[in-house]
Amino acid sequence: MKIRLGVLASHGGSNLQAIIDHIKNNDVQIEVVAVISNNSDSFAILRAKKEGINTYHVSSKTTTDVGKQMIKIFKKHQVNLIALAGYMKKIPSLVLELYPNKIINIHPALLPKYGGKGMYGMRVHEAIINANEPYSGATIHIVNNQYDDGKILNQRKVVIEKDDTATTLAAKVLVIEHELYFDTLKLLAEDKIMLQ
Ligand code: GAR
Repeated sequence: MKIRLGVLASHGGSNLQAIIDHIKNNDVQIEVVAVISNNSDSFAILRAKKEGINTYHVSSKTTTDVGKQMIKIFKKHQVNLIALAGYMKKIPSLVLELYPNKIINIHPALLPKYGGKGMYGMRVHEAIINANEPYSGATIHIVNNQYDDGKILNQRKVVIEKDDTATTLAAKVLVIEHELYFDTLKLLAEDKIMLQ
């Protein structure tokens, strides 16, 4: 399928940037058509603007209906796949209802371990280091109405060394995230993996 991607990001947007860069350097049927952030001054928004991509600030602090606003944006740009890239808010149920099996997320651990409510960002890496795990990694999964619970589409591992800390682990995982997200999108665009 030709992917018209809507990306949701809250902070740095390094995954967003990696997706954009890989699309430029590869012959793929994927276009990032809209970027939404709950954070008006997020670096993700700046990155998208710099690339000439439509950006939107949608936040429960400025609207009573985040879901409706998102749907409006997705329809306007004919989005057929939504990628969460460091999006730290819950997806409104309206969006889940209208885009079943069309929303994917990247999680900085090997799900089903170290997922669920409260497990995001550095908290995940801290929990993994505290548990003395031998490895970690990243997971791309379909988003449903439970945290980090939908079908796993792709995963990649990293080895944890004795001197790794949550900070060094986060950096290692981010490197593989930047490859994994695009590789998974490419597999979807080429119909090599399915969204159900
Ligand atoms: C990434 O490590 C991503 O896996 C994580 O936030 C970071 C965002 O980085 N997402 C979650 O923890 C979601 N549960 P980025 O803004 O630089 O792409």
